[in-house]
Amino acid sequence: MKLLKALAGATALAVTMFAAGQAAALTVGFSQIGSESGWRAAETTVTKQEAEKRGIDLKFADAQQKQENQIKAIRSFIAQGVDAILVAPVVATGWDDVLTEAKEANIPVILLDRTVDSDNSLYLTAVTSDLVHEGNVAGKWLVDEVKGKDCNIVELQGTTGSSPAIDRKKGFEQAIADHANLKIIRSQTGDFTRTKGKEVMESFLKAENGGKNICALYAHNDDMAVGAIEAIKEAGLAPGKDILIVSIDAVPDIFKAMAAGEANATVELTPNMAGPAFDALDAYLKDGKEPPKWIQTESKLYTAADDPMKVYEEKKNLGY
Ligand code: AHR
Repeated sequence: MKLLKALAGATALAVTMFAAGQAAALTVGFSQIGSESGWRAAETTVTKQEAEKRGIDLKFADAQQKQENQIKAIRSFIAQGVDAILVAPVVATGWDDVLTEAKEANIPVILLDRTVDSDNSLYLTAVTSDLVHEGNVAGKWLVDEVKGKDCNIVELQGTTGSSPAIDRKKGFEQAIADHANLKIIRSQTGDFTRTKGKEVMESFLKAENGGKNICALYAHNDDMAVGAIEAIKEAGLAPGKDILIVSIDAVPDIFKAMAAGEANATVELTPNMAGPAFDALDAYLKDGKEPPKWIQTESKLYTAADDPMKVYEEKKNLGY
């Protein structure tokens, strides 16, 4: 009850500020995971651009892949009395305490691109794709592509404990579950990076008869796929033909690979999570309008049939 009253007070104050035309003075803290992938770099760029467009003073903190750094950054944002906090949570667990602290300080928190296992009353909203659906789309593409032929799959997972790694795995497994011809024979984390994607793919190739036992690679992001493509070429095989490649993100480099026939499909994840987040925040601060707890972004499948070079040209200067 005390908390409700405090929240109502904070909202009333924000409404007054907006009415007085002080919206431009908003200060928002952004705890970003790091820069593990091209997609992440684009999300950072777009978030800064969206903040600038709206006259928001964005305080940016790069956590270098560490949850402890994110927690420290959030605590520092709370101490500075920011108006709101954006956080892209590196892993799904361990957020209850710091989210409670933000709530007690009446600072709304918005999750970007990944989810957490905390109660949803601890944050204002989460702007994410349907991560299970993304894995499902990738799996269904492969089911259709192999047309009933036997296919051994290797999987490069994202960061262990992160919601995209958990959910993209789940969605893909659901999609292939009723197809006995498709089997995941190896699955390991590549931490969403090109370097680790390459390294782990090299070990998969070695363990699987130089890659001859492998029919397809499912990578939880494009960067790991791009690293794996290098490993496949170095092993003397043709990525995209000897080993089919399906991944997630739709970063420019995967379209280059697709145009060269070295990758086959990707599921797009928009890097613009901040736009919908700031819109929801504006509405909340202006009139106390609670957004839905989940603001879902689109997931679109791209294949070689989608003029990959054209998409590459469209995307190459967008901050990836
Ligand atoms: O949470 C989104 C994922 O994080 C992206 O798919 C991946 O590239 C990034 O590192």
